Amino acid sequence: MEIKFENVSYIYSQGTELEKYGLSDINFKIQSASFTAIVGHTGSGKSTLIHQINALLKPSKGNVRIGDDFIINNEITGKGLKPLRQKVGMVFQFPENQLFEETVLKDIMFGPLNFGFSKKEAEDSAYYWLEKVGLDVSLADKSPFELSGGQMRRVAIAGVMASNPEVLILDEPTAGLDPVGQKEILALFKDYQHQGHTVVLVSHDMDIVANYADEVLVLEAGQLLRQEAPQTLFQDEKWLHQHALNQPKVTAFAQQLAAKGFKFESMPITMAELVEVLTPKLGGKLAEDG
Ligand SMILES: Nc1ncnc2c1ncn2[C@@H]1O[C@H](COP(=O)(O)OP(=O)(O)OP(=O)(O)O)[C@@H](O)[C@H]1O
Ligand SMILES: [Mg+2]
Repeated sequence: MEIKFENVSYIYSQGTELEKYGLSDINFKIQSASFTAIVGHTGSGKSTLIHQINALLKPSKGNVRIGDDFIINNEITGKGLKPLRQKVGMVFQFPENQLFEETVLKDIMFGPLNFGFSKKEAEDSAYYWLEKVGLDVSLADKSPFELSGGQMRRVAIAGVMASNPEVLILDEPTAGLDPVGQKEILALFKDYQHQGHTVVLVSHDMDIVANYADEVLVLEAGQLLRQEAPQTLFQDEKWLHQHALNQPKVTAFAQQLAAKGFKFESMPITMAELVEVLTPKLGGKLAEDG
């Protein structure tokens, strides 16, 4: 589903002395079935922004449109929220807080049951996603609170995906997972996108952004500074430096080679791209040495 922000502002503690803009006049469009990353420093408004997409926070000004079905503004009321939240699933920044049932299975089934799946459908979906997120079936009957942090995170992810939301919103979903676990979970999200779902992911990790996102939004102090392909953003070393944002590791490495006289037509942003540009150069060298 397409997501559109039209002049969206969000004001915390509106009308009090503590009034503070979390978002200021944000405009953008995210295409259906795309994978969009949101980056920015801590406090830049990333969580505030994604919370508008399922009306956890309602815009103080402006509209958020989800497909042709939903308009979220400060007038939306309780009735419209349930169908919206079925379409827009959200894994929170601290998903451990999302768990509350007695067992892992019940926790994952909660969303599907709430959105009208039959008990059998909810259970099938729960077991399917339990396995997909890399958890052993034997954990189904455990209390979610007996699990490790990484396992809890996987349960929370399964619990959201089990309702099959059309839009999947993820706030730093792989923080705290080991590198292999991170890759598995990110591949799962990428697969989900390829099945036609829209994925929005908040991340501080530019390598994740470079490897998985089609587009990236850059936030700073509640304002949207840029929206473009990661390949375009990460070329702009000077701008990133001015805004104290990192490049992917591969790009930083290529930058150092460039400083030593290596010529790149465009800076690689992923390992695969780096290998692609270096192979013709090193290939000749290897043959000579051999
Ligand atoms: N409940 C709140 N009341 C008042 N201000 C808040 C509240 N929640 C967030 N803010 C402020 O809004 C701004 C944006 O916060 P937000 O949580 O969206 O940032 P973020 O980009 O998600 O940061 P992080 O990377 O640390 O998760 C910050 O300046 C923050 O202090
Ligand atoms: Mg946040």
